[in-house]
Amino acid sequence: MTLKHPKIAQPGPDLAVAPHFNLETTTIPRHVLPEGEMPPDVAYQIIHDELMLDGNARLNVATFVSTWMEPQAERLMAECFDKNMIDKDEYPQTAEIEMRCVNILANLWRAPDADEATGCSTTGSSEAAMLGGLALKRRWRQRRTAEGKPAVKPNIVMGINVQICWEKFANYWDVEMRLVPMAGDRFNLSAEEAVKRCDENTIGVVAILGSTFDGSYEPVREICAALDAFQSESGIDVPVHVDGASGAMIAPFLDPKLEWDFRLPRVASINTSGHKYGLVYPGVGWVVWRDAHALPEDLIFWVNYLGDNMPTFALNFSRPGAQVVAQYYNFLRLGYDGYRQVQGYGREVATLLSAKIAELGPFELLTRGDELPVFAFTLKSDVENYTVFDVSNALRERGWQVPAYTFPKNREDLAALRVVVRRGFTHDLADMLLADLTRTLPRLEKQQEPMHEPAAESFHH
Ligand SMILES: Cc1ncc(COP(=O)(O)O)c(C=O)c1O
Repeated sequence: MTLKHPKIAQPGPDLAVAPHFNLETTTIPRHVLPEGEMPPDVAYQIIHDELMLDGNARLNVATFVSTWMEPQAERLMAECFDKNMIDKDEYPQTAEIEMRCVNILANLWRAPDADEATGCSTTGSSEAAMLGGLALKRRWRQRRTAEGKPAVKPNIVMGINVQICWEKFANYWDVEMRLVPMAGDRFNLSAEEAVKRCDENTIGVVAILGSTFDGSYEPVREICAALDAFQSESGIDVPVHVDGASGAMIAPFLDPKLEWDFRLPRVASINTSGHKYGLVYPGVGWVVWRDAHALPEDLIFWVNYLGDNMPTFALNFSRPGAQVVAQYYNFLRLGYDGYRQVQGYGREVATLLSAKIAELGPFELLTRGDELPVFAFTLKSDVENYTVFDVSNALRERGWQVPAYTFPKNREDLAALRVVVRRGFTHDLADMLLADLTRTLPRLEKQQEPMHEPAAESFHH
């Protein structure tokens, strides 16, 4: 099976060349390797022109991924494009920088002893989640085997709002998913519902900071406390992994008093996406374990490093070093205060914009953007002649990509729009989005009936 996009119809078998290259009559096949070379300017122009059809990344308020970095960071990245992260021996300083980033994160996430914490970079939170989940599974298996008990039916407990990477983890590594459905106005995992699903085969509970659906933080401290009580009653010790894809780079700066991290002894590991609120271009993620005990030794492979051996834990082998270096650039350049300012600005834009959207009349906020700088809103129940999908499509006409999606099981009746505020999304851009939203309303209000329905595929990011 080829993994290709099913919807885009291609105009024909050949690519066209722009007239100014005097190659208009040349045939360039679209789907097979051309027979010969072409001048680099022509190749560049053809691809550049085609990519104009991609949306404008800065107007994409669907994505959590960084769409702007400083030119100095871009320069550093270009200097590192040729460095392979796995070649620790050839690029020892890149390896050193990766380790420094892990120490910085362990410290930021309050590991009891940041030097004892262990972790690595990944291609994103998805790979980080696989590694975190694998460590949970292996620890559970070791414990069961040591107790002389069967270790054949592992399960993992999480909210139905988990990002698809956790469904992949469960599917790829044969772990039963115990998903807590949404209920009423509870759109994420509750401590009580999580504990109800735990037993001796539970490898861990995943708590999300914050939910991809609406930007809300899950109650990590309450979940840990409930699992403490569960352990006192049953003797079963269930560790917690925090999926901090976005929030692990927000909460330390904006909610320093909130306990969600290694301050809670039950939190075994945390992941984040360096390319989300770590403020790096895509593909870098991080996973950190609270101490060496939380990451079983037999998952680690050793690679040569300056004549010595260095531990690695990864799904990929070759991987670019540029993003890791860019992450370190941000850490040095911004420091704690800089991150606090960037994330604080994002939260200010998100909360102000959500408040103004609420004032427009037809919308009802599900979240305000006061946890992740992300908020979801729906249409009031008396609006029947247009849907959130119509709103999303109307905004698309002006270039805005504001996703509309239905909620999962138990709340399939609820359809919402979501706005992700990221670095580079200014008050000015927020005002322009608001103005465009305001402008679309009279037209939508005149509509006889809904024009757009949810896409058959549910929304995953
Ligand atoms: C909570 C959560 N976990 C995991 C992921 C996957 O992250 P990545 O795209 O870095 O693989 C996302 C992406 O949006 C997310 O929101």
